[in-house]
Amino acid sequence: MARARKSLVVLTGAGVSADSGVQTFRGGGGLWEGHRVEDVATPLAWARDPRLVWRFYQLRRRALRSVEPNAAHRALAQLERELAARGVPFLLVTQNVDDLHDRAGSSVLHMHGELVQLRCERCGAKVRELEHLEPEEYVPCAACGHARVRPDIVWFGELPYFMDEIERALLGCTHFVSIGTSGVVYPAAGFLSLARHAGARTWVNSLEAPENLDPRDEFRAGRAIDVVPALVDELLREL
Ligand code: OAD
Repeated sequence: MARARKSLVVLTGAGVSADSGVQTFRGGGGLWEGHRVEDVATPLAWARDPRLVWRFYQLRRRALRSVEPNAAHRALAQLERELAARGVPFLLVTQNVDDLHDRAGSSVLHMHGELVQLRCERCGAKVRELEHLEPEEYVPCAACGHARVRPDIVWFGELPYFMDEIERALLGCTHFVSIGTSGVVYPAAGFLSLARHAGARTWVNSLEAPENLDPRDEFRAGRAIDVVPALVDELLREL
C-alpha cells in the first residue's frame, strides 16, 4: 500500500564519530584502564564503585573538547535543514553520548543519554554547566541537595530514552538509514528491521556488515565521512 507521505529516520552509532577521533565501543579491544566498557556502563558498577564510573564518564566528557564534528555530522545537519524547508518529517536518533551532532547543528534524540549532562538520582533535575568540572570533582544536586547525581547515561539494563517517539517515527517512515553501528545492542539494533517491516527503504553504512544487516538493505561499506555526504545527496533527490 502506498504511503501518504515521505519521511526519514536516521540512526547513528559510534562509527559516525570515529572519523572525529572518538573511539568506538567495540573497537580498541573494548577496554578502559583494564576495565571492560560494559563493566563501567551498568547500574551495578555505579552502586559498587561510583568513583570509577564517575571518573570514566567525566574523562570522556573532558575529551570532547579536543574533537570536532566531521563531514558526516555536517551532512546530516544539512539534510535536516533541507528537509525542514520542504516540510518532510525527519528524525535523527543517536546512540552516541558525545555532542558532535548537536555541535554540527542537528536536533537529535540521544537515546542513550549525553556526556554533557548529569541527572539527580532522587529528583531527576538535570545539570548541564559542567565545563568547569575537573574529572574527579563531584557535585551534589543544586535542586534538592541529594549527593548522588549521576552521569545522564543510559546504562546496560536501563530503558533508553524517547522510545515512544522513536517507535512512532519508525512505524511511519518511508526511508531509514543506519550509520556506524554494529547492530548488536537492542533496542537500537532492532530499528532497521522494524522500519523495513513497516515498508521503508533501508540503507546501512558501516565499515563491515553489521550483525543485523539483511539482503534487502542497501549496504554502503566505508567510512562515514566518505559515504554519508553522497548518501545525503541521494536522499535529497529521493525525498
Ligand atoms: P560499536 O563500537 O559497537 O560499533 C561501531 C560500528 O561503527 C561498527 O559496525 C564499525 O564497523 C563502524 N565504524 C567504525 N568506524 C567507522 C567509520 N569511520 N565510518 C563508519 N562506520 C564505522 O558502536 P555502537 O553500535 O554505536 O551503549 O554501540 C552501540 C551501543 O553499545 C553504544 O551506544 C553503547 C554501547 O555499549 C551504551 O552506552 C548504552
